[in-house]
Amino acid sequence: MKIMSAPHDPMTPAVEMINVSRRFVTPDGKSMTAIRNFNMTIGRGEFVAIVGPTGCGKSTTLNLVTGLAKPSSGEVRLFGQPINGIDPRIGFAFQTDALFPWRSVIDNVVAGPLFRGKPKAEAYERAREWLARVNLTGHESKFPHQLSGGMRKRVALAQTFINEPQVLLMDEPFSALDVQTRVLMHDELLKLWSEAKASVLFVTHDLEEAIALADRVYVLTAGPATVKSVYEIDIPRPRVASEIRFDQRFVDISHTIWNDLREEVMAGAARTEVAA
Ligand SMILES: Nc1ncnc2c1ncn2[C@@H]1O[C@H](COP(=O)(O)OP(=O)(O)O)[C@@H](O)[C@H]1O
Ligand SMILES: [Mg+2]
Repeated sequence: MKIMSAPHDPMTPAVEMINVSRRFVTPDGKSMTAIRNFNMTIGRGEFVAIVGPTGCGKSTTLNLVTGLAKPSSGEVRLFGQPINGIDPRIGFAFQTDALFPWRSVIDNVVAGPLFRGKPKAEAYERAREWLARVNLTGHESKFPHQLSGGMRKRVALAQTFINEPQVLLMDEPFSALDVQTRVLMHDELLKLWSEAKASVLFVTHDLEEAIALADRVYVLTAGPATVKSVYEIDIPRPRVASEIRFDQRFVDISHTIWNDLREEVMAGAARTEVAA
């Protein structure tokens, strides 16, 4: 029997990936390795970003933490324990938001608490609070199709944070937004995160986004994905994402990491061309 660190020990990391590999069987019956010997630790309350070229294995990595996918070898732990199926301590945010189009804004936000058995009046009260936090007061009874892309993302954030996740998994959540709206969403996310004190795993192909948000950035190889390097982002907080890109420290860090990431992007692009 393996000795596990105690889940209630405040020193136990929120998420650990230990020597994880993940293989798929391709349609022509070959074995394809998407992730190889992957090691990562996310501390409690820490904001970690993963960057790597498109198709390198970022979403596959994140899926292993959801509990929906199992590693072919190695181990994924949540608060010191092996992950076993969907865990209520985990919240999600993906590129395509999970709003129900036939429900109003508030009915979307209230869905989680109601599902978890909160009394109706209390759930609606909390939903109104969360909508106020993301500046959507007055829009409660609108439907998703009546909102802009940025507003829909705000609803999605309220819908996620209302469940008070201890670990938040985000897979390119803002990549469909225009640049200006995306930066506003970064500030919104940083504000919510600093209040909620959740651990975040944020996956993106956008290096500047990763640096603006994270405490630590993991650069992945072009595939099979493994950790190429890890960078501590020592830009002080609170950060203002909409201003940070003009900061000399930010520019220097971007340069350094880009030198490292560039090779992987080139390798990834070369591979895609061969495949096409
Ligand atoms: N369920 C699956 N079956 C087979 N191959 C998969 C599956 N999921 C992902 N892959 C492959 O694994 C690789 C990494 O994919 P993915 O993690 O989605 O990349 P990223 O998120 O970095 O763009 C890709 O080559 C993809 O085609
Ligand atoms: Mg992906």
